[in-house]
Amino acid sequence: MYSRIAGTGSYLPAKVLTNADLEKMVDTTDEWIRSRTGIERRHVAAPEETTSTLSTEAARHAMQMAGVGPADIDFIAVGTTTPDYVFPNVATLVQHNLGIHDTPAFSIETACSGFVYALSIADKFVRLGESKCALVIGAECLTRVVDWNDRATCVLFGDGAGAVILEPATEPGIVTTLLSADGQYRDLLFYPYGVSCGWDKLRAGAPAFITMKGNEVFKVAVNTLSKLVDQTLIKGGVGKADIDWLVPHQANLRIIKAAARKLDMPMERVVVTVQDQGNTSAASIPLALDTAVRDGRIKRGQLLLLETFGGGFTWGSALVRF
Ligand SMILES: CC(C)(COP(=O)(O)OP(=O)(O)OC[C@H]1O[C@@H](n2cnc3c(N)ncnc32)[C@H](O)[C@@H]1OP(=O)(O)O)[C@@H](O)C(=O)NCCC(=O)NCCS
Repeated sequence: MYSRIAGTGSYLPAKVLTNADLEKMVDTTDEWIRSRTGIERRHVAAPEETTSTLSTEAARHAMQMAGVGPADIDFIAVGTTTPDYVFPNVATLVQHNLGIHDTPAFSIETACSGFVYALSIADKFVRLGESKCALVIGAECLTRVVDWNDRATCVLFGDGAGAVILEPATEPGIVTTLLSADGQYRDLLFYPYGVSCGWDKLRAGAPAFITMKGNEVFKVAVNTLSKLVDQTLIKGGVGKADIDWLVPHQANLRIIKAAARKLDMPMERVVVTVQDQGNTSAASIPLALDTAVRDGRIKRGQLLLLETFGGGFTWGSALVRF
């Protein structure tokens, strides 16, 4: 028994913040942002939108494509690092929004790797026969946790959600997944306060924003993704030339290009959405996947390599026969 992606969906908030808008907010230029990151614009959630509302919209679109209803869903996992609340978790909020009852529903906090981690877990549930219709989401409201006075980070991030439906299949589907992490890099990319750590500073009104040593993150990301690509091809028993599409985490165009070079892949076979969405963390891969499925680039039967890297550090990949 294997799992396969039966449908994809995504949702982006209506408000778009361009590099020109950011030029008016911090000491930056469109040229700097585009040349260093590839980003041209990003979406920003409206005040009433939350990670669970973005997730719910993305889920609806994926369910529609898969031709399934609320009664069919028997498993919900959401990768996110910007949950609505500490608890209840985002997946339970989505479950309630969609009118689904009595299913497992949980969130995974592995930053940008959240969707791939969730996909890997859902794949196991489907393969073991414990789920017949799994909803897997990656969603973020990162603009809520960036410092709009810090030009080094506020230009990078955006909001959005993407989702897939996994169903049982006799052929793979999800060929293989690979997950990993290394906590020694915690100080390079983090959010300073949570619940059991820094709560006293938060209560005293200390500011809490994404904090990053960008150029050091960059180096570890490129090296780690390079190894990850090799490991995934070996684990999946395929060669570079077998991959039809690279669907990478959309953090930075230069990191994406490095991964493509490692695979000897022309950029025409890489799905790139970072210019329009910025870094949407756990949402970026399912958003990119849905974009390329809906515009007809990704076709049934093609082999996709999904790869991601994020805070923790955490990283992961999935080899997917779409
Ligand atoms: C963040 C990132 C784009 C910065 O690019 P960089 O080439 O490494 O730039 P640096 O951080 O070395 O900064 C270079 C200079 O640009 C300046 N700078 C930073 N942000 C700027 C901005 N928005 N506009 C203009 N100048 C900026 C810095 O202050 C620095 O100036 P200085 O040399 O006078 O001190 C890049 O490091 C990156 O993408 N890192 C990975 C981030 C990432 O992927 N994070 C998420 C992982 S999932």
